[in-house]
Amino acid sequence: MIANLNERTHFQNRHNGPSENEIEQMLETVGADSLDQLIDQTVPANIRRKGKLNLPPALDEFSYFHAMKETASQNKVFKSFIGMGYYGTVTPAVIQRNILENPGWYTAYTPYQAEIAQGRLEALINFQTMISDLTGMEIANASLLDEGTAAAEAMTMLHSLRKKDKKNANKYFVDQHIFPQTLDVLQTRATPLGIELVIGDYKEVDLRDSDYYGIMVQYPNANGSVEDYKDLFQQAENNQVKIVAAADLLSLTLLTPPGEWGADVVVGTTQRFGVPMGFGGPHAGYFATREDFKRQLPGRIIGVSVDKHGKKAYRMALQTREQHIRREKATSNICTAQVLLGVMAGAYAVYHGPEGLTRIAKRIHGLAQLASNYIQKLGFKQNNQTFFDTLDFEIDPGLVEKIRVEAEAKKVNFNYFVENHIQIAFDETHTPSDMIEIIGVFQKYSESEINPEEIIKAADHVEIKFDSVFARHSDFMTHEVFHKHRSEHEMLRYLKHLENKDLSLAHSMISLGSCTMKLNATSEMVPITWPEFAMIHPFAPSFQTRGYMDIIDDLTKWLAEITDFHTVSLQPNSGAQGEYAGLLVIKAYQESIGQGHRDITIIPSSAHGTNPASAVMAGNKVIIVQCDEQGNIDVSDLKAKAEQHKENLSSLMITYPSTHGVFEESVMEICEIIHSNGGQVYMDGANMNAQVGLTSPGIIGADVCHLNLHKTFAIPHGGGGPGIGPIGVAEHLAPFLPGNPLVHMAEDEAIGAVSSAPWGSAGVLAISYAYIAMMGADGLENATKLAILNANYIKARLEKEFNILYSGKNGRCAHEMIVDCRSFKEAGIEVEDIAKRLMDYGFHAPTVSFPVAGTLMIEPTESESKEELDRFCDALLSIREEIREVENGTADKEDNVLKNAPHTADHSLSDEWNHSYSRSAAVYPIEYVRANKFWPSVGRVDNAYGDRNLYCSCIPTEAYELEEAEV
Ligand SMILES: Cc1ncc(COP(=O)(O)O)c(C=O)c1O
Repeated sequence: MIANLNERTHFQNRHNGPSENEIEQMLETVGADSLDQLIDQTVPANIRRKGKLNLPPALDEFSYFHAMKETASQNKVFKSFIGMGYYGTVTPAVIQRNILENPGWYTAYTPYQAEIAQGRLEALINFQTMISDLTGMEIANASLLDEGTAAAEAMTMLHSLRKKDKKNANKYFVDQHIFPQTLDVLQTRATPLGIELVIGDYKEVDLRDSDYYGIMVQYPNANGSVEDYKDLFQQAENNQVKIVAAADLLSLTLLTPPGEWGADVVVGTTQRFGVPMGFGGPHAGYFATREDFKRQLPGRIIGVSVDKHGKKAYRMALQTREQHIRREKATSNICTAQVLLGVMAGAYAVYHGPEGLTRIAKRIHGLAQLASNYIQKLGFKQNNQTFFDTLDFEIDPGLVEKIRVEAEAKKVNFNYFVENHIQIAFDETHTPSDMIEIIGVFQKYSESEINPEEIIKAADHVEIKFDSVFARHSDFMTHEVFHKHRSEHEMLRYLKHLENKDLSLAHSMISLGSCTMKLNATSEMVPITWPEFAMIHPFAPSFQTRGYMDIIDDLTKWLAEITDFHTVSLQPNSGAQGEYAGLLVIKAYQESIGQGHRDITIIPSSAHGTNPASAVMAGNKVIIVQCDEQGNIDVSDLKAKAEQHKENLSSLMITYPSTHGVFEESVMEICEIIHSNGGQVYMDGANMNAQVGLTSPGIIGADVCHLNLHKTFAIPHGGGGPGIGPIGVAEHLAPFLPGNPLVHMAEDEAIGAVSSAPWGSAGVLAISYAYIAMMGADGLENATKLAILNANYIKARLEKEFNILYSGKNGRCAHEMIVDCRSFKEAGIEVEDIAKRLMDYGFHAPTVSFPVAGTLMIEPTESESKEELDRFCDALLSIREEIREVENGTADKEDNVLKNAPHTADHSLSDEWNHSYSRSAAVYPIEYVRANKFWPSVGRVDNAYGDRNLYCSCIPTEAYELEEAEV
């Protein structure tokens, strides 16, 4: 026996599903002699990469942890008093371990299949209820990307809602004291739409100017001052100007909510509700508004409906109004939001309840109040008369630097962004001794003396009292869920109870086409909750963030290598944000060469809805090109349209391989047509999992491409976010990549910020970093090959019984394929019936009706073993037999296993069973299910009922009683 002592387990063998043996068997089924032959038959020769990716050697998991510990130690965790929308927070351990660190939660997909997603839907209803209650608004969505983009969504939503006399009003007033990062995002978003931002003092604005359609204020404002906006709001109402308030959610436990002042939209972040700062994100933004605006509301709304058996069931409401589904008519492109973080924030509210949140808010305010009193006693002027958590001191110019040095020596960060001011924001993590410590910093530069004993004594009974104009009098979060789960056992079991209702990757493969539901390896996830990553403020001084910068620099280089681009911006925090950023970069480049008039974007009919939505947001007009019968872009149609719009052609948006699951042979020719007509090529990188190591957007000829790190690069989908959508660009576009107003990171020509934080969702970048570091060049290339093999294996197994819509010239699909279910309609079977029936077999449905109505799009990814693929194929083939029974009349047309799917335990085990098929046919349709049954927690959800009776908050307790009485 011989042992190689240098050999360690290769991570790629854990990440990739099929074993060597299985690969052989699968190739045989597929009819290819080797993996390389299959790839040669699939990927066009003219776009193939020559040579390997230039990446560092792959690390094994143990060595990776070691290296990561070293990197983490380069970040310095100081006590943050910086504020500005990012605060220290205590993530309750029961939430950290059972949600954030739990694959049962983080590997789930957006809850489109409501019957197997009731847990996170309930968690999101809790989130929405908390937001509506705290802000005093009628309706809230289930999260946006961050505060800055939520504010921009409010600005654009109200712009699109302008009526009658305001139809041509284009001015949007923004108070000068909103967070600078929010202002920058607003500026970026306003320009392409012709919205004129007017920035000034809210006390001086004259809203009688009929050009104003909206205003925005911050509450408390960026300096920490709680302002009385009553007169402003009255003026706005008198002049039909709509009002947006960005509000600190925690302060609203003590302060009058903007909804009670008459705001039309309230936006903000829920970060300080238990979600770590993570160097800027991911955190869930929130958006609350009036019921009247429910159809224009960006993002997703969770609503209450009933299932087939009349029982309460949650689902995503009013889905047809989801903006990106409206394509070029959309006013927003939000798709992936920040669901996992929204779930966490909602759980934090459940854990603390209204009295717990109020107690936290009072403590924070009390600390700020004492600090204000004592530092003023030391002779420093504090400007905020009314404040919640943030103090604003005027400081002599020469003293600021001295205080900074003193504070940093004590590992304390204040906010120095306003010249000759020092701002100090308190948060949940701070204690009276922290306060004494910072008073000590100021004392050093004062003649006066304060005895710490006096402060300790005072900390025991601080009177919390706001002027009656500001004090909150209304109740909030009165629903039982916010009162019931106080002990940790109760909380743990509640979270488990919700988790158990949801199907995630911890149960079985999720073959959602276009979503790349691959393994999110545990070792990739572990470091993100280490304090050295979790507790870093996005605007912390750079000497404290070297670990993060190492990751950011390496990841930027690696992604540039993988895409063959000049460089990459990590700022966009979803794929759709990447699209938007990329199109703006193109615009800025074209302006720089005197071609700023170009405003036409060509998009294939098969594109994802976010593509046209992003194009419209970037101020472009959309021209659709058709696809031919093989699902390829109709090149002659494209050529004709490109030539017709030659003078104004800005760009083409193309997904590659196409959303039809095919490597189009003509892709280079397509890029050439666009370039020769003066346009730029934008590649939607959602399907990058079929490219890595084999080809690249740069090789193909694209100018810019977004990557979905939450698809190809192993960041989990989190039930609908987090996401990161970095864009890679060719050299001529690099100077225009997004910047940030507070951190120098971009060139002068930069387009401005597209996210609040400089590096977007920086806190989860370490996941993709880990993925690349542990896979290495070979691992990544093998993953791509196996993703293609797995898809072709499924195709080979299914194609005798199902029509696979498109394939390449050698009959191969790319990493996904479309299964046509339209012919079953004749027997009355809809694609939805198949999707729901798969739940009885323990599977999540593939993507339904995208990009072709009446079809399923299957993407297995490389992480699934042959055994799992076989289980899935067996399920679909068994369902095909069930359809055949309906087709040939053996099964009833209405009362059959498909129409009644999914079958719940409640229904299937009840004493009554009036169906024409057996219980076991319903719930154990195939042998393997007996040993591994996943029970959908509700029957088929009635979407139409829920939309007619829209209800988007926790159901009142009486409704539960009613429901129980009815059962
Ligand atoms: C092809 C394609 N483009 C764009 C997107 C949007 O990406 P995101 O949800 O990250 O905004 C998706 C999302 O699934 C997609 O499938």
